[in-house]
Amino acid sequence: MPRLTVWMVRAALLHLGTAFTIGALMLFHKGNPLDAGIWRLLAAHMDFALLGWTMQLAMGVAFWIMPRLSGERKYGVVWLAWLAFGLINAGVLAVAVSPWFGTAGNVLALAGRASELGAAVVFAIHIWPRVKAFGATTGKTP
Ligand code: HEM
Repeated sequence: MPRLTVWMVRAALLHLGTAFTIGALMLFHKGNPLDAGIWRLLAAHMDFALLGWTMQLAMGVAFWIMPRLSGERKYGVVWLAWLAFGLINAGVLAVAVSPWFGTAGNVLALAGRASELGAAVVFAIHIWPRVKAFGATTGKTP
């Protein structure tokens, strides 16, 4: 398994654990009210679960299993995939903490969303040449 996949899958598992913990806390709060501020965790819960876990796991496994290219750079332009790794995690963390920054938090949440979108775009650019039929040269269908 390539090193980037190891990092992405491990990060995704950390996001899953965090999403589930927050989810359980919110669920507990619905039954036994603790602190209304707990609902500030909802955005974090959704981002950890949908992007930090689901999207990052998919990116990590795709980087590993999509067809390799011939020649030296068999995984393609790898720094793009590392950039996507940084952007997705920075984006999710920015959105997660944004409710605690008042009005500045709106800017932080927007920056977080832009970073998450950037991760998807950068990863798509990275993986595109590897989306090819078995045995085909880069990006062409036989
Ligand atoms: C990968 C798994 C999960 C995903 C993708 C996910 C996603 C979501 C989403 C998108 C919402 C917002 C729903 C809405 O506002 O309409 C939500 C809310 C919530 N989730 Fe999760 N969730 C996951 C797992 C869990 C788990 C394991 C728990 C509890 C142990 C949990 C507890 C909650 C609670 C309590 C809410 C708030 C519901 C409400 O507004 O009343 N979630 N989740």
